[in-house]
Amino acid sequence: MRERLCASGDLPEGEVIQVDLGDGRMLAVYRLEGDVFATDDLCSHGDASLADGFIENGEIVCPYHMGRFDIRTGEATGAPCSVAIGTYRVQECDGEIVLIS
Ligand code: FES
Repeated sequence: MRERLCASGDLPEGEVIQVDLGDGRMLAVYRLEGDVFATDDLCSHGDASLADGFIENGEIVCPYHMGRFDIRTGEATGAPCSVAIGTYRVQECDGEIVLIS
């Protein structure tokens, strides 16, 4: 099943945006080196939206305590974060970014 997340134009290269799936889940959606990725938006360390953070070297840096996660794998890569976040399959087609489930 495919679920539309946003228009391709909503997500410039090197940016992250928050997408509300409407069922209580919030995703952070990224464009990195031409590919699109999605993770949980909620940091595993606290009540922070990762979409409010910034991208550096393939990692999302949390805006609260500067913990880090690998955008491609969800692995926690920088303290104080130690618990991985979820990752999701996304694709870009026909001008849209879609979630694959
Ligand atoms: Fe994200 Fe603390 S809430 S690093």
